[in-house]
Amino acid sequence: MLDVENLAAGYGRVQVLWDVSLQVQRHEIVALIGPNGAGKTTLLRALSGIIPVAGGTVRLHGKPINGRSVEDIAYRGVTHVPEGRRLFAGLTVRENLLLGAWRRRDKNLEPVLELFPNLRGRLNQVAGSMSGGEQQMCAIARGLMSQPALMMIDELSLGLAPKVVEEIMQRLPDIAASGTAILVVEQDVDAALTVAERAYVLENGHITMDGQAASLLADPKIRMAYLGVA
Ligand SMILES: Nc1ncnc2c1ncn2[C@@H]1O[C@H](COP(=O)(O)OP(=O)(O)OP(=O)(O)O)[C@@H](O)[C@H]1O
Ligand SMILES: [Mg+2]
Repeated sequence: MLDVENLAAGYGRVQVLWDVSLQVQRHEIVALIGPNGAGKTTLLRALSGIIPVAGGTVRLHGKPINGRSVEDIAYRGVTHVPEGRRLFAGLTVRENLLLGAWRRRDKNLEPVLELFPNLRGRLNQVAGSMSGGEQQMCAIARGLMSQPALMMIDELSLGLAPKVVEEIMQRLPDIAASGTAILVVEQDVDAALTVAERAYVLENGHITMDGQAASLLADPKIRMAYLGVA
């Protein structure tokens, strides 16, 4: 469904991503891991059109989308949950969710409230007053309101306790099953490789490893570099 071939991107003359190829299939959860500064956020930005693609091809459902605007790419079904969540802190949870439904005529909140029942009792609460975990749930729920084909989540676990990360990660398979594939960038490599089916490792702007998440989780190189265990 998402097919990235030999992508190059960066900021001005500084190239950050080199020859990046990756795929995400329908109903799939794919993790993108790698050290700080590897270019993970940059890759999500290039895929969602925030920064230009300097080379290579990005296809969604077989159609090239590189060079298209952020709005157009979002309209075609790609949602980006950015690092730090970017909720409208002064608006209520309901208002944040409804803003996520911009591309739909029916603004039914029910399906996302079924995925995140914690939000049901908080619809009238101002988003900025919720806990970090609740805010991340709200950001993901907002992203789902447009019924995207692909949701890209940057640093799902940022600033959250392991138990909260686990709780949110456990929602991802239901989201994928409901028809939204997920590309998740994650520092919590253990959690990411546990929930994902496949994963890519990005280092210095290059994809250096990829494969089934379970086999990467068992790989000694990954265990040493990202889990600190042999
Ligand atoms: N707006 C920008 N202008 C110039 N360079 C940038 C910009 N944003 C990021 N970079 C550089 O691009 C490289 C990749 O950064 P990026 O944020 O994509 O890494 P990351 O893998 O998401 O790291 P982290 O795990 O810390 O979030 C870094 O060297 C960074 O300094
Ligand atoms: Mg980042």
